[in-house]
This record gives sequence, structure tokens and C-alpha cells, in this order.
Amino acid sequence: MTERTFSIIKPDATRRNLTGKVNAVIEDAGLRIVAQRRIKMTEAQAKKFYEVHAERPFYGELVEFMTSAPVVVQVLEGENAVARYREVMGATNPAQAADGTIRKLYAESVGENSVHGSDSIENAKIEIAQFFTDADIVG
Ligand code: CMP
Repeated sequence: MTERTFSIIKPDATRRNLTGKVNAVIEDAGLRIVAQRRIKMTEAQAKKFYEVHAERPFYGELVEFMTSAPVVVQVLEGENAVARYREVMGATNPAQAADGTIRKLYAESVGENSVHGSDSIENAKIEIAQFFTDADIVG
């Protein structure tokens, strides 16, 4: 089934000028980038985006990191896009990520792990709506 998922290219990747390299992995995996914008996340945006992690010990650090440099927010479209992108990203901890995945190739640590991808279709819809309107998405 054709689906959409939400992706963020995180500050550790934009800082190292890896946007194009990450996008190449995404496109080589058969996912289409149907919306994309480079932004500097505000503290309010990052806090809201990660509010499910508010009680975790790393929440403050995560918000600080996500606002530390530009990010690229994206909508990806394709067959089973949510699961496919999670496969392409690799495990959250790059030490456990499979060969060829974005995190194996580029991530620096469990916190500075280059990309985010939605974990379900429901969350993809919620996350996409935080950064894009329907008019921004050109499939
Ligand atoms: P992400 O998919 O964006 O969703 C939550 C993020 O929290 C996750 O990627 C990691 O970047 C971050 N995270 C998860 N575990 C840790 C941890 N132990 N320390 C710091 N950051 C973490």
C-alpha cells in the first residue's frame, strides 16, 4: 500500500553537509521525497515533537540537540513507507545498525543519529501535520 511517513535529517547530518547523501539512500530505497524544507527548529517545536519522551532522562539533551543547527523535515512516499524507511534508517543505536543503513553509514551516536522516521502510520500523520500542510505535499 502506498503510504507517507515523516522524516527529519537531524543537526549532526546537516552540520556535516550530508543532506544529499542521506537523500540518495532514501531515493535508492525507492522512497519519493514529496515534501522537504530546511528549518531551524524552535525549542517549542522540538519539545512538542518529542513530548512522548518528556519523562525520559535524555529529553532535555534531545531538545537541545534538535535545535542546535538546521534540520531538514521531509515527507516520504512509497510502498509501506513507514516500515521501509525504518529499515533504511537502521537501528536507533548506530552500533547496532545493519550495513548500508543511514545510521550505520552516518550516525555518530544514539542521540546524534542523523535521521528520524515515524514509527506508525498514525504518528506519521500527526508528525507531518506539525510541519506541513496538504498544499506543501506534491506527490
Ligand atoms: P528518534 O527516532 O528521533 O526518536 C527519539 C530520539 O531520542 C531517538 O531518535 C534518539 O535520537 C534519541 N534517543 C534515544 N535514546 C537515547 C539515549 N539513550 N540518549 C540520547 N538520545 C536518545
